[in-house]
Amino acid sequence: MNMTEFEKIILTEIPNLHKIDVYEQHGGYSALRKVLGMTPDAVIDEVKKSNLRGRGGACFPAGLKWSFMPKVSSKPKYLCANGDESEPGTFKDRQIFEYNPHVFIEGALIEAYAIGAQMVYVYIRGEYKKWIDLLQVAIDDAYQKGYIGQNILGSGFTTHIQVYRGAGAYICGEESSLMNSVEGGRGYPRVKPPFPAQSGMWGCPTTINNIETISNVPAIINRGWEWYSKIGAPKHPGPLLYGISGHVNKPGVFELPTGVLLTDLIYNYCGGVKNGKNIKAVIPGGSSTMWLRGEELEGVRMDADSLKAVGTSIGTAGVIVMDEDTDVIKVLTRIAHFYHHESCGQCTPCREGTGWMEKILRRFLAGEGTLQDIDLLLDVANNIEGNTICALGDAAAWPVQSVIKKFRGEFEKRAKKSPSVTRYVKPPHLVEVTAV
Ligand SMILES: Cc1cc2nc3c(=O)[nH]c(=O)nc-3n(C[C@H](O)[C@H](O)[C@H](O)COP(=O)(O)O)c2cc1C
Ligand code: SF4
Repeated sequence: MNMTEFEKIILTEIPNLHKIDVYEQHGGYSALRKVLGMTPDAVIDEVKKSNLRGRGGACFPAGLKWSFMPKVSSKPKYLCANGDESEPGTFKDRQIFEYNPHVFIEGALIEAYAIGAQMVYVYIRGEYKKWIDLLQVAIDDAYQKGYIGQNILGSGFTTHIQVYRGAGAYICGEESSLMNSVEGGRGYPRVKPPFPAQSGMWGCPTTINNIETISNVPAIINRGWEWYSKIGAPKHPGPLLYGISGHVNKPGVFELPTGVLLTDLIYNYCGGVKNGKNIKAVIPGGSSTMWLRGEELEGVRMDADSLKAVGTSIGTAGVIVMDEDTDVIKVLTRIAHFYHHESCGQCTPCREGTGWMEKILRRFLAGEGTLQDIDLLLDVANNIEGNTICALGDAAAWPVQSVIKKFRGEFEKRAKKSPSVTRYVKPPHLVEVTAV
């Protein structure tokens, strides 16, 4: 698609779109009116065919997820909208709360109708007080106009929206710990199965979607799945909110089709690298995704399949650019500290391994790392990956694995400065238990 043809649907240029009257003047809530005359199955089918994939990190097909909800249930059903947005490098959902909260509210109402949810919980990180307040104003206005609440627009459909604020824990963005948190419990991820559609909030069928995912829905309903599925990369279509930070001249959030060139984002939309420097590394999708070296960026497109092909992932499309002077070990240590601090401590590989990784990296920063420490660090990361209850363990391991793979020389350079430290202590290994 030619970029000049691209029409923004979420962060449009319309002034004051956050106000309900302005939103209505531009067709707002017409998609809700439309679905109230459709069957829930027809709505799910439209979203399925659009090929909308989750924007919260895992790219799971949204319509398919909605179809997992039981059609008939003796228990209430819930929708959780995930606005925890605590992944370092990610700051796009808050733009929706600020500039177009009604597109999200309308999308949430449509989704609630499609899956039969009587209640929508919007979970937002507590640090986003400003954005929580902005969203609350929009929700109050939508209640006033009869879009939320009892017998919406006389359709007989009732649902409510309530905002729930987090208290500073990254792990509460993980869907099952989010549900525990809303229930008033500790933010511990749950072992799956059962999956949320079978047993979610208070043991009832629940669907969890990211704020941006939900905000795509009104346009799909208004314009049809065929229109939507032709935007951007065919297998991962639609507009995407790219959040670019780091050493670029104009950091920010840009709404563009999926599949744009990474170099286009950096050089055309963000005005290039500060002081004309070269790029040393890029994190393409938030701190948990695998790094790319500066030399690898040419031709790389920002969609799920293209990034998978180069050994990383789209994640939340939170791109972090690092210039040629960046101390990658220092950055990695900061990231490792984050995951160590945020580990909930339920599983041993994550609880202990994240701490070991941070300690070993700090040895390198202090000039005390050895050559053997590089493999020790990799060994710890490899023993976390795939061995934990939730994906925080993988999120902690992937940056470490990729930086060792891509920048091993940086570790070796530092290690050589400390020839006196030679003793290698093998890490305690995970013991394989064989059933008898
Ligand atoms: C540690 C951790 C933190 C997460 N944080 C968020 C978050 O802040 N926002 C989000 O939408 N998804 C987050 N996720 C992913 C959610 O578990 C879930 O997959 C997502 O909300 C589903 O929405 P989607 O299908 O629309 O992408 C996180 C996952 C993990 C493992
Ligand atoms: S992987 Fe880490 S954060 Fe996730 S449940 Fe296990 S200890 Fe907790």
